Amino acid sequence: GEALPPPDTNFSFDGLFGTFDRASAQRGFQVYKEVCSNCHSMRLLYYRNLRELGLSDAEVRAIAATVQVNDGPNDEGQMFERPGRPSDRFRSPFTNENAARAANNGAYPPDLSVITKAREHGADYIHALLTGYSDPPEDFHLMEGMNYNKYFAGRQIAMAPPIAGEGQVEYKDGTAATVEQMSKDVTTFLAWAAEPELEQRKQMGVRIILFLTILGGLVYAVKRKIWSDVH
Ligand code: HEM
Repeated sequence: GEALPPPDTNFSFDGLFGTFDRASAQRGFQVYKEVCSNCHSMRLLYYRNLRELGLSDAEVRAIAATVQVNDGPNDEGQMFERPGRPSDRFRSPFTNENAARAANNGAYPPDLSVITKAREHGADYIHALLTGYSDPPEDFHLMEGMNYNKYFAGRQIAMAPPIAGEGQVEYKDGTAATVEQMSKDVTTFLAWAAEPELEQRKQMGVRIILFLTILGGLVYAVKRKIWSDVH
C-alpha cells in the first residue's frame, strides 16, 4: 500500500522564530549514539560539532574517546587503532555499503547526516516513521524479515522498530525516556545535524523583513513629502 502522509509534529525549530531545543538535541544524540549508530553512519559530522549543542570540551573529548578509530600509516607504515578525538568524524558502524547490507539482510541503512533534508516532510516524517510501527492489517502481505510501517513507502521496511520500549536509554537529565520522547529527541538531533545554521537563517529572514518594513515606511514618508505640493 501507499505510505500515509506523516502527521504534523510540533518542533521547537518550526516557524519563523524557531530554535533548536538544545536539551532535546543532546538527548537525541544520546539516542543516536546508543541505538542508531549501531547501523547508521553520520559521515558529515565531527565530534567537535557537538560543542554547538552546548556540550563542554571535556564532554566532547570523553564522547570521542569512547570509540576506536583507524589511523595511520605510522612511521613503520602500519595502520593502527586509537581512541577518537574531537577532530574525528563520527565513527561509521560499517566499513562500506556491502558490509552494511550484509549485516542487514541486504537492506542498506542510509547515512543520517542530512536525512531530514533528504526525505519529503523532513522531521515530521522521521518522527512518524519511528513511532509508526504496528501489526499489519489482515490482508497485507508482509515479506519475510520486513516490518509494517504505514509511513514508509510500500509500508514495509527492513528496519525493525529501533525505538521499541520505554527506558531504552537512560537520560542523564532525568527526562522520562518514553518512545515518544526518544523519537522526538533523536529527530531534533537529526534536524540540527542536517541544518545547524537554521537559527541564523531564520534570524536573517526576520531581520530582512524588519528592514524592508522600515525602509518601506521611509520611502512612503519621503514620497508623501516630495509630492505634497502637487494638487
Ligand atoms: C532505514 C532512522 C536505528 C537499520 C532508516 C531510515 C531512517 C532510519 C530515517 C530511512 C527510511 C527511509 O528510507 O525513508 C533510524 C533511527 C534509528 C535507527 C533514527 C535510531 C533511533 C537502526 C538500527 C538498525 C537500522 C539500530 C539496525 C539494527 C536500518 C535499515 C534501514 C534503515 C536496514 C533500511 C530500511 C529499508 O530500506 O527497508 N533508519 N534508524 N536502523 N534503518 Fe534505521
